Amino acid sequence: MDLYAVMGNPVAHSRSPWIHHRFAELTGQTLDYGRRLVPLGGFAAAIAAFRADAAGTARGCNVTVPFKFDAAAIAQHVSPRAALAEAVNVLSFREDGIHADNSDGIGLVNDIVHHAGVTLTGSSLLLIGAGGAAAGVLGPLLETGPRRLVVANRTLAKAIGVVQRHAALALQHGVQIEARALDDIDGAFDVVVNATASSLAGDAVPVAASVLRPGALAIDLMYGPATDGFMDWARAHGAVARDGLGMLVEQAAVAFELWRGVRPPAAQVLAELRALVD
Ligand code: ATR
Repeated sequence: MDLYAVMGNPVAHSRSPWIHHRFAELTGQTLDYGRRLVPLGGFAAAIAAFRADAAGTARGCNVTVPFKFDAAAIAQHVSPRAALAEAVNVLSFREDGIHADNSDGIGLVNDIVHHAGVTLTGSSLLLIGAGGAAAGVLGPLLETGPRRLVVANRTLAKAIGVVQRHAALALQHGVQIEARALDDIDGAFDVVVNATASSLAGDAVPVAASVLRPGALAIDLMYGPATDGFMDWARAHGAVARDGLGMLVEQAAVAFELWRGVRPPAAQVLAELRALVD
């Protein structure tokens, strides 16, 4: 049977096996999907061990924290969007070698457009954070053609770096892109994306509520109780709050289609997962 896994540390909490098993059931695909706890510094060895254990049946894996930066190094082919993000969350093991890709950004865009029902083209967008999670979603957000996109980060230099790396893509799509410090954001935005680790750390939302225009969509890339602070803050200031569960399912759907050539019913699986976790 074709074998897949999510590789990370920690990984016990991952919903990916459940999501991919459900996709497989609903599309009539035969596969197994497990989770592998990878020791820090041991990513390449863990991939080799996974493939050896599977004796030729391993077809790919998802890569999660903290290995998204390591995964490109073991691949023979890196997609342009993964190269720009400098982060990989999907590996496909094919005859011509390992292919690395990033489905996080397109997963976020699909969630915002299809599930939250928000149009990104022509909108104003605030992306908070400039680490791996933010870099992973910036390219696909730019490709939707927002009018203005501000990357705000606690460490301004990191925001400037990410913005410079994406300057050509922004120009290509006619987006006004800016790097800002967290206390230097002007204007109110249609969509505010929290891609910082602030929720995870239990810290306060790192920007002023004036960034939310009335009825804005405020979305945290995390999910679970850690996002409660951000979601409560957003609702208290008149925004529509959303967590990262939809993005999780949508990035998985893109990976599933890459591997299997079949588009799974992401909306149905998201509704089922929502009922499971709430
Ligand atoms: P990830 O892969 O989850 O993005 P990361 O690369 O370590 O992890 O990036 C974490 C992001 O969260 C960074 O943008 C970080 O800001 P700095 O670049 O200034 O470190 C941001 N972050 C973490 N804790 C934060 C907090 N308490 N308030 C504001 N931003 C925070």
